[in-house]
Amino acid sequence: MPFNHKHLLNLLDYSKDDIYEILNLAVTLKKKQFTGKKHELLAGKTLAMIFAKSSTRTRVSFEQGIKQLGGSALFLSSNDIQLGRGETIHDTAKTLARYGIDGIMIRTFKQSDIEELAEYGGMPVINGLTDDYHPCQALADMLTIYENFGKLDGIKLAYFGDGNNVTHSLMIAGAKLGLEVVVCSPNGYEPNPEITKKAQKFGNVTVTTDIDTAIKNCDVLYTDVFFSMGQEQSAAKVKALMPYQVNSAIMAKASKKAIFLHCLPAHRGEEVTAEVIDGTQSRVFDQAENRLHAQKAVMALLMK
Ligand code: CP
Ligand code: NVA
Repeated sequence: MPFNHKHLLNLLDYSKDDIYEILNLAVTLKKKQFTGKKHELLAGKTLAMIFAKSSTRTRVSFEQGIKQLGGSALFLSSNDIQLGRGETIHDTAKTLARYGIDGIMIRTFKQSDIEELAEYGGMPVINGLTDDYHPCQALADMLTIYENFGKLDGIKLAYFGDGNNVTHSLMIAGAKLGLEVVVCSPNGYEPNPEITKKAQKFGNVTVTTDIDTAIKNCDVLYTDVFFSMGQEQSAAKVKALMPYQVNSAIMAKASKKAIFLHCLPAHRGEEVTAEVIDGTQSRVFDQAENRLHAQKAVMALLMK
């Protein structure tokens, strides 16, 4: 089946072939970028970027990405547009459509809001992170793993810590691409069981509290912050998650060839130690860079 998507909301409806099409195009565009070959696939197109939460990587990589594709971006902080004062998603979407906006990237809280935007806006909608999913991150992660190992099928990825939006998208993308995904979280902080069930339908995804089970033969160790944006700080959560910190003791149990990933921003001394994230097995800045290349491919496929 040829790539036939209008939006990127959560990757659940993307096939293995669709995801490979994005990754292959990302590899091609990355080469073109490095060799200085023009690739203005979206000349004259405009991406509106709505942010209801903070961002460094997503904001800059989408803005640079669309520019490199010959288009331009409009940064819309939800604090500064009427959305932040209660205008509905529906009215915002309909209005943006009238100004010739060709696509919307949105980072917000509720997944249902971006689904509504996709339903009423008429233009492609790209999820730049919600409380439930972070599909663009998972695509960059898969690209990074592919670059390191030359394959995705059969790679074992162990995720340590809070089961969150990043975990959910990793489980879905990983399962679809033939990775073995083991999520290692303490009781009470597992990924959402409904989303886990959905991911398990696509492939090999398990959830465990046992670090040794997770680490055995793993190729990729992954973690993310204890507290995602919008979550309240809690001492009980820190206490529960500290044993799952990715530190040199955990790294010592993994193969020397294993790599460490983190979507960033990181909190050294919490979910990961400085020696791991700044160590030789860390690929976090390749991973951050790959946001650019993966998202250029997504925009090119959805907005052309
Ligand atoms: N990983 C990620 O989405 O980073 P930002 O929050 O900086 O966009
Ligand atoms: N889980 C984190 C990811 C940040 C990129 C959050 O939602 O804050």
